[in-house]
Amino acid sequence: MEMSMGFLFLVLAVVARTAATPPVLTIMSPDGDIVDCININDQPAFDHPLLRNHTVLEAPAYLPDIDDTNWQVWHENGTKCPKGTIPVRRLSGTIGSQPGREATLGHEYAIGFLNPPPPKIYGTKAVMNVWHPKVERAKEFSLGQVWLTAGSYENNELNSIEAGWQVYPEIYMDYQPRLFIFWTADAYTSPKCYNLRCPGFIQTSRKVLIEGAISPQSTFGGSQTELTIQIWKDPNLGPWWLGVRLSNGSDLTRIGYWPLELFTSLTDHAENVQWGGEIVNLNVSGRHTSTQMGSGFLPGNDKAAYVRDLQIALSIGKFQAVSDLKVGATNPTYYNVEKYSNTSFAYGGPERGDAVQLSLDAVLVCICCFGLFLFF
Ligand SMILES: *[C@@H]1O[C@H](CO)[C@@H](O)[C@H](O)[C@H]1NC(C)=O
Ligand SMILES: *[C@@H]1O[C@H](CO)[C@@H](O)[C@H](O)[C@H]1NC(C)=O
Ligand SMILES: *[C@@H]1O[C@H](CO)[C@@H](O)[C@H](O)[C@H]1NC(C)=O
Ligand SMILES: *[C@@H]1O[C@H](CO)[C@@H](O)[C@H](O)[C@H]1NC(C)=O
Ligand SMILES: *[C@@H]1O[C@H](CO)[C@@H](O)[C@H](O)[C@H]1NC(C)=O
Repeated sequence: MEMSMGFLFLVLAVVARTAATPPVLTIMSPDGDIVDCININDQPAFDHPLLRNHTVLEAPAYLPDIDDTNWQVWHENGTKCPKGTIPVRRLSGTIGSQPGREATLGHEYAIGFLNPPPPKIYGTKAVMNVWHPKVERAKEFSLGQVWLTAGSYENNELNSIEAGWQVYPEIYMDYQPRLFIFWTADAYTSPKCYNLRCPGFIQTSRKVLIEGAISPQSTFGGSQTELTIQIWKDPNLGPWWLGVRLSNGSDLTRIGYWPLELFTSLTDHAENVQWGGEIVNLNVSGRHTSTQMGSGFLPGNDKAAYVRDLQIALSIGKFQAVSDLKVGATNPTYYNVEKYSNTSFAYGGPERGDAVQLSLDAVLVCICCFGLFLFF
């Protein structure tokens, strides 16, 4: 029931989009992406029935839009989206929506979390280095991200907002790591979308392309490309703002926000926060995937991916370093996590070139761990 309603809604949204006004400008990215600069008031979010009367909020003054560095491939074109527009990646026959929760079978995690979490969380910040993990199958993905959630799976009331970097060939049609965002207000049950593919997130930046490829990536023993994700609740205006920064950029750039209209439980504060890696193992022919998480190296190797500078806001707008960080992995033979400090950890795997056998131990650990994890 919920599924078909969701699909109907998506179809309507897609129809509405097609009827939208043409882009103000179109920019060709060297990687083949076509980027349309569309009027900020014509953006996909306004196809959402709950946002019909929503007007784009002014970005808070303390969050400037001044990052002029070229950290996304499309920036190499040199042409920028004009004021009053936002960049949107044009989809060509790619999949708009993803099926509901049953599609989360085979997801594996190596993450940091807080247990017990503080009673009220008003935001989080994390710095992750960006890699180019190998993804074996188009329908598998590999990502590094931040989760903020409220509500529970019971009655499908979990609300979640998520952001980070991801390689996902089936939806992006290539193997580049891309900036991505995600949200659900029903515990992932209805069909859902990454980025701006379903209406919801309201973008305000004309400089950052959601689902735009990130380049260059980190190198072993060389320069690190660090993606900073910061999400927080605006003190005056309510919504959950998203800011990002790339290593060599000067300041956090605001990208946009998730309006509170979308949520049932993320309306005042978040109840849980997690950071780290996730992959999909399709287990084709009964063999564990060779898809990599992070840099493709397990923690313990200095080439492993990391998350650092973990912060949370326990009151509105006041960020502080995380204390008492916990870490855990669902299948540590393949993808593990190692705490460095209360604000940093390494994650990822498996060792490149190593065909690790899924041992009975790992299966047992996996089953035991699963109880601990909120997210599939
Ligand atoms: C930038 O995009 C325009 C289309 O808007 C295209 O004509 C031009 O060739 C592109 N330039 C580069 C350097 O990719
Ligand atoms: C939008 O405004 C109209 C007219 O005031 C009202 O009838 C409608 O219920 C509103 N829709 C939402 C989703 O708030
Ligand atoms: C940031 O990195 C990109 C890609 O290497 C480079 O083109 C740009 O000039 C750098 N910016 C600064 C401020 O170092
Ligand atoms: C992968 O497939 C094998 C053989 O069918 C099965 O024994 C194993 O449980 C599967 N593993 C996962 C994680 O699905
Ligand atoms: C992490 O935080 C806890 C609780 O504040 C503290 O007891 C512990 O010493 C800290 N650990 C490290 C490695 O700093």
